Amino acid sequence: MKPKKLHQENKNPILFCTDLKKDYQDGDKIIPVLEKVNFSVMPGESVAIVGRSGSGKTTLLNLLGGLETPTAGKVVLNDTNLQSLSERKRGYLRNRVLGLIFQFHHLLPEFTALENVCMPLLIQGLSVHTAKKRALSILDKVALSHRISHKPATMSGGERQRVAIARALVTEPKCILADEPTGNLDNHSADIVYDLMMQLIKEIGTSFVVVTHDLSLAKRMDRIVSIDRGVLNDGELDAGANS
Ligand SMILES: Nc1ncnc2c1ncn2[C@@H]1O[C@H](COP(=O)(O)OP(=O)(O)OP(=O)(O)O)[C@@H](O)[C@H]1O
Ligand SMILES: [Mg+2]
Repeated sequence: MKPKKLHQENKNPILFCTDLKKDYQDGDKIIPVLEKVNFSVMPGESVAIVGRSGSGKTTLLNLLGGLETPTAGKVVLNDTNLQSLSERKRGYLRNRVLGLIFQFHHLLPEFTALENVCMPLLIQGLSVHTAKKRALSILDKVALSHRISHKPATMSGGERQRVAIARALVTEPKCILADEPTGNLDNHSADIVYDLMMQLIKEIGTSFVVVTHDLSLAKRMDRIVSIDRGVLNDGELDAGANS
């Protein structure tokens, strides 16, 4: 059975939000950023979120990952309402269920590539030996076996992004949230990183939510949703329509 078909058999979304609203406060002024967003991702499904700069994409991803608190509405990850959890328990759930890939990788600068990829497994309580074995295996898959002892500052942008991808996937999470994961790379490097990411995601059978400006990359996902000034339009664009 292909992992991608999993979501057709399991009817519960791995991640969803209902009537999600986010306002930011700027002094006395309230800045509405997201309005009544309803969104869900099924197990094994890939979804692209597209929209103009400032439309609320990163804010939505941060809320879905429990990194920020909504003004109203709820986010449910793996059948658990994130708002019902303490900060610590949210972190615990995130470590076990989610993989996060940020635009600027957010690798820990004082640690090597290998140590960065080991980190989520050590947080899960795995032994150093097991963590290293798994980290080395995934670093090999992203073609970085020769860079494991390098710290982020001594790696290229594409290499850093591949370390970030390895770190997000090493726990074999149920869902990956990626914010412009190739945004700071040239087209050629972005294509290589995307190919690798898609291959690993299919191997693991994980769900994938990716924010991107690049429509050709977005079209490689099962579904595309667009966001405009904080309002999400689901199904407006069909991933397969023009491909
Ligand atoms: N902490 C904050 N305080 C106040 N306003 C914020 C804050 N974070 C984001 N915003 C505002 O919310 C809006 C949406 O920001 P967000 O980062 O979600 O946009 P985006 O769609 O990810 O844009 P980009 O494509 O440029 O990354 C913007 O107008 C931004 O200025
Ligand atoms: Mg953003």
